Amino acid sequence: MRIGPLEVDPPVVLAPMAGVTNASFRTLCRRFGAGLYISEMLGARAIVENHARTLQSAEFGENEPIRSIQLYGIDPATVAEAVRRLVDQDQVDHVDLNFGCPAPKVTRHGGGAALPFKWRRFESIVTAAVGSAGKVPVTVKFRMGIDDDHLTFLGAGRISEAAGAAAVALHARTAEQL
Ligand SMILES: Cc1cc2nc3c(=O)[nH]c(=O)nc-3n(C[C@H](O)[C@H](O)[C@H](O)COP(=O)(O)O)c2cc1C
Repeated sequence: MRIGPLEVDPPVVLAPMAGVTNASFRTLCRRFGAGLYISEMLGARAIVENHARTLQSAEFGENEPIRSIQLYGIDPATVAEAVRRLVDQDQVDHVDLNFGCPAPKVTRHGGGAALPFKWRRFESIVTAAVGSAGKVPVTVKFRMGIDDDHLTFLGAGRISEAAGAAAVALHARTAEQL
């Protein structure tokens, strides 16, 4: 499996998990031999605003050859700036954008897993991230949709491809299904 210039061998990925997939956990998992290990989800705004804990979470161990960071953001300009900083400072080899959060307090306001429903904003965020990333591949992770009556994954995939994403990941549940 290739993600832009990266070879993911074997084609097995440690799914990003907020509060779980930090550098220590990734190091423990590495002995089981997956091809790609993604960071915890980091807020684009927290990166732009230099929040110390978030910047610390964006660091990788010397045993981590592919530095893969998952970002969450709702504002295209902020996501673009966060990606630009990570890339300019040579801190990242792969950026994954998270559109999977099912928390009602987030989806109620149109964020997280509900964001692809607002497809113009979704498109702007992916386009902005790809535009800032240069040669660093950007992938997009999303759910099937908000609920069975509001499925968005096919549109989200097509938009991501057209915007230049290197790959997409599908969490094959709706937000309603948690
Ligand atoms: C504790 C926990 C935290 C998670 N946090 C994130 C996250 O920050 N970003 C994300 O894209 N997915 C997150 N997920 C979803 C997983 O990456 C994965 O897509 C999901 O668990 C589906 O895989 P499964 O069916 O094997 O559970 C989280 C899942 C769990 C269990």
